[in-house]
Amino acid sequence: MSFDYKVKDLGLAEAGRHQLRLAEHEMPGLMSLREEFGASKPLKGARIAGSLHMTVQTAVLIETLTALGAEVRWASCNIYSTQDEAAAASVLGPNGTAEDPQGVPVFAWKGETLEEYWACTDKILTWPGGEGPNMILDDGGDATMLVHKGREWELAGAVPATTEADSEEFAVFKDLVRSTIATDPHKWTKISEGIRGVTEETTTGVHRLYELARAGELLFPAINVNDSVTKSKFDNKYGCRHSLIDGLNRATDVLIGGKVAVVCGYGDVGKGCAQSLAGQGARVIVTEVDPICALQAAMEGFQVARLDDVLDIADIYVTTTGCYDVITAEQMSKMKNKAIVSNIGHFDNELDMAGLAKVPGITKTEIKPQVHEWTFPSGNSIIVLSEGRLMNLGNATGHPSFVMSNSFANQTIAQIELFTKPGEYEKQVYVLPKHLDEKVARLHLDALGVHLTELTKGQAEYLGVDVAGPYKPEHYRY
Ligand code: NAI
Repeated sequence: MSFDYKVKDLGLAEAGRHQLRLAEHEMPGLMSLREEFGASKPLKGARIAGSLHMTVQTAVLIETLTALGAEVRWASCNIYSTQDEAAAASVLGPNGTAEDPQGVPVFAWKGETLEEYWACTDKILTWPGGEGPNMILDDGGDATMLVHKGREWELAGAVPATTEADSEEFAVFKDLVRSTIATDPHKWTKISEGIRGVTEETTTGVHRLYELARAGELLFPAINVNDSVTKSKFDNKYGCRHSLIDGLNRATDVLIGGKVAVVCGYGDVGKGCAQSLAGQGARVIVTEVDPICALQAAMEGFQVARLDDVLDIADIYVTTTGCYDVITAEQMSKMKNKAIVSNIGHFDNELDMAGLAKVPGITKTEIKPQVHEWTFPSGNSIIVLSEGRLMNLGNATGHPSFVMSNSFANQTIAQIELFTKPGEYEKQVYVLPKHLDEKVARLHLDALGVHLTELTKGQAEYLGVDVAGPYKPEHYRY
């Protein structure tokens, strides 16, 4: 089989394959979907463009999608999050060799430049034969944005000029769209017309989708995978509870116990982060804008304060908000010497990295890849992880397999739903029905030795539910 791909080193595939094998054991949700749908192949004919961290767990997702009949092209949704051995194993597939790769075209490696990142995203949307994908599987919405902005600017006749106000990333993005339109002036219009739908993994990407839908600009139906209960209440919370301190330890190996740690934002991700830092013996302080989340944090025993009031006592910072400029360069300049500053939210703008680089007289020293010491003219320095990008994937390997099995079982079910039911969904954003959410949870119970209690018929009638579920009304919050 011959196909195009770009990864760091196919020689890493064997190491990747061993990790995949172990991950499969920890991903019962995906493995049972392979059993359930492997023969009927509901994704036959699906051409999925996937933009999601190219990790070992994602490699198991990719092989689940192909086992269900899909063709797949893949890029990572972050320049630092690729595990090169997983990318190599995905290109080879279980039975391929470096001379004869039999897996899928992957365009991802750890440490891409921004130019390379957007070129890789373009690659997953550019199928041989010019057909284009008919499905997108997105994390953070970059692939969806490329199609939408590309079409918008094609119809406008030009990409808007780059200005001082554009971030470096947006300027690079504009350059990429300019070059694609120069090669094919109708590229994005054609691609958008062929797409049946997108399934979106994360809070930030979902936020972008609802904005497009509200403006009447969403070009195809979308399923918000993030807000399946078995995604956001597990991956965002328990996944970050695991991978936040993994990132901190691998990056700095500093003792967390006894330190003062600030968690900015107390949503699903913030709750997991605060719990893991407290579990290590840190004194956790939370910052919030939402009174409900602030009250929740207080009820859990965390101090809730304003960032400016704790800059002189905190040792570790993590932003978890999905907002921007949550920690400004000025605030960083007032932190304790050697404070560790990190972000676990989707985009790097939670920390004002652009502002930090502009502080007069500041110097940057690489301690090791993805760990940098920024020294202010005063002589004080701070340690910034992953250049402000999500540190659990930049400094560690992201969430563990078991929790990702929940997220990716939702992704797989959502792909089947949108691909097999064209015309049944409007150009709106949907969440999966509760019985499918419960199904995903059920798929993970045996592995943990969980024995569910069963309602009697009488009890079910008393509660007004079916014996087989769903057990909760739509508005229930878990
Ligand atoms: P969420 O909406 O549940 O929580 C965010 C919280 O931040 C909210 O409670 C909000 O009130 C608060 N907030 C917003 N602006 C703030 C500010 N300026 N200062 C203090 N608090 C502020 O969102 P969720 O699900 O917790 O996700 C947060 C981010 O993490 C998103 O960007 C999401 O895409 C990303 N994410 C990252 C993961 C990872 O593995 N690194 C996993 C899952 C989500």
